[in-house]
Amino acid sequence: MPLSSHLLFPSYPKEDQLRHQHEIEVAVQRVVRSGHYILGDEVGAFEAEFADYLGVRHVIALASGTDAIEVMLRAHDIGPGDKVVVPCFAPSAVAAGIHRSGAALLLADVEADMFTICPEALESVLSTSEGHGVKAVLAVHLYGQPVAWERLQKIAADHGVLLLEDCAQSHGALWRDRPTGTLGRAAAFSFYPTKNLAALGDAGAVATNDDELAGRLRLIRQYGWRERYLSDQEGVNSRMDEMQAAVLRVKLPALDENVSHRRQIATHYVVRLGSCHALRMPVTRMHCEHAFHQFVVRSSRREALLQHLHSRKIPAAVHYPAALHQQAAFRCDHAFPVSEKLAAEVLSLPLHPWLKAEAISTVCEALEEFDHG
Ligand SMILES: Cc1ncc(COP(=O)(O)O)c(C=O)c1O
Repeated sequence: MPLSSHLLFPSYPKEDQLRHQHEIEVAVQRVVRSGHYILGDEVGAFEAEFADYLGVRHVIALASGTDAIEVMLRAHDIGPGDKVVVPCFAPSAVAAGIHRSGAALLLADVEADMFTICPEALESVLSTSEGHGVKAVLAVHLYGQPVAWERLQKIAADHGVLLLEDCAQSHGALWRDRPTGTLGRAAAFSFYPTKNLAALGDAGAVATNDDELAGRLRLIRQYGWRERYLSDQEGVNSRMDEMQAAVLRVKLPALDENVSHRRQIATHYVVRLGSCHALRMPVTRMHCEHAFHQFVVRSSRREALLQHLHSRKIPAAVHYPAALHQQAAFRCDHAFPVSEKLAAEVLSLPLHPWLKAEAISTVCEALEEFDHG
């Protein structure tokens, strides 16, 4: 008998929790009994373990990925009067983090096949008068696809601006054998429950090799306190709590294996669906390892396809239905044709490490049926 939809397609946060349930309960109980709930031993241990995993000197644990963007910019003294360039096709959380720092947003179009910020578009944004006042570029490794780091870095260096990473979707991705999150001066991470490395609530971090920057990040995350109740500079409250750190410590050792499962499922989709005319498969940048936070296909018949999949109880989704400039909060006069096209065409197929072969076959059969219909 076929499994019902929620058994065939279990939600990732729930399934990820179930896989580690016993260890998580032990870890949470340890925290409950410790009497220490914010910035304690668990946070310190997670920071050290995640830094070790990435191969960086410092990880500063924070309360969310949006905070990580804000605090990372503030620690570089980027704020009101400054501009930060971001890809126009990105989740609005990216823009929210920049807004909270006080800096203004400047948008650049993306590469159609890669989904990440387009080097030529960045060059042209930085070369116009609009580019005056740009302090940084936030490169988002969207869906787990590493950005064109080398080219972006050259452009950023030529224009004297900082290149920072947003790794909220790229835990486990590699750019030329180097983990994303270690490529530039600093990188922002989210551990929101749907992420490749997922807490059971909000959590985030900044990774850096720069000792001085790490010191500033630590001050800013807690009211700018040099010591208790004495603030050296303006700060925020963005502390990771002990429970989230304890959960992340349980899950971190499984990250690479889980990302490897994601890649296997992605390969299966690409091989099986490669000849479907209605679909354009995602590609992985040369010399990179994709982390497949999302497996995103493109179709000019996206709405019909979505309906077709939903009618078969397949939880396909759209990440994201509008580019940043198409949303009321971030509207601007420019056209960003690639981002607009992607917003109309992208569709995420179910993919997470715990998806069984039967679920993947069900998705493929439904897509083949759509293609032949
Ligand atoms: C690319 C990207 N950046 C930043 C964020 C913000 O992370 P958080 O939800 O933890 O605030 C997200 C989360 O959705 C994201 O996908």
